[in-house]
Amino acid sequence: MTDLVEINNLNIRFTGDRTVHAVNDLSLSLAEGEVLGLLGESGSGKSVTLRALMRLLPRKRTEISGSVKVLGREVLAMDDEALSAFRGQTVSMIFQEPALALDPVYTIGRQIAETVIRHEGKSEREAMARALEMLEVVRIPSAKRRLESYRHEMSGGMRQRAMIAVAAV
Ligand SMILES: Nc1ncnc2c1ncn2[C@@H]1O[C@H](COP(=O)(O)OP(=O)(O)OP(=O)(O)O)[C@@H](O)[C@H]1O
Ligand SMILES: [Mg+2]
Repeated sequence: MTDLVEINNLNIRFTGDRTVHAVNDLSLSLAEGEVLGLLGESGSGKSVTLRALMRLLPRKRTEISGSVKVLGREVLAMDDEALSAFRGQTVSMIFQEPALALDPVYTIGRQIAETVIRHEGKSEREAMARALEMLEVVRIPSAKRRLESYRHEMSGGMRQRAMIAVAAV
């Protein structure tokens, strides 16, 4: 069976005033039903590795080589259109710093609804109903009222749950 994720000889460098060799010759694989934890000291390249899985690295300053396959498809070879569908439908990321991943100027309900509209082409009304459902799934207390909250109005745990809701749409 095809592995969910197969990374082979991944190398990631950031170029600039100083070149950073963030990931050096990393290989790993993940099969269906498995959970994989990456352990390593701060700055050892864990987040950068996972960003590569979604190609969420600054395009101009990043050199990537090797192979990153998800469900047998080479992520490093995807064009913008393929990447956009891939990020929406196949992979999701719950970012390390949820406060920064949520937009400060839109309510959390709005942000989840936007994702629903983009991915599922639903109407505004249906999307809001789905946003409420997602907040309930991640067990945010008083979900209905929380739809109207901005990120600065929520606790850290609620922000993390909100991010999970966005990622799970
Ligand atoms: N956009 C970037 N430009 C330049 N260097 C970067 C960039 N992003 C990350 N780095 C560097 O790459 C290295 C790996 O960073 P990464 O965020 O993957 O660490 P990490 O293992 O997730 O650490 P932590 O446990 O603190 O979250 C670090 O030296 C970091 O400074
Ligand atoms: Mg990290």
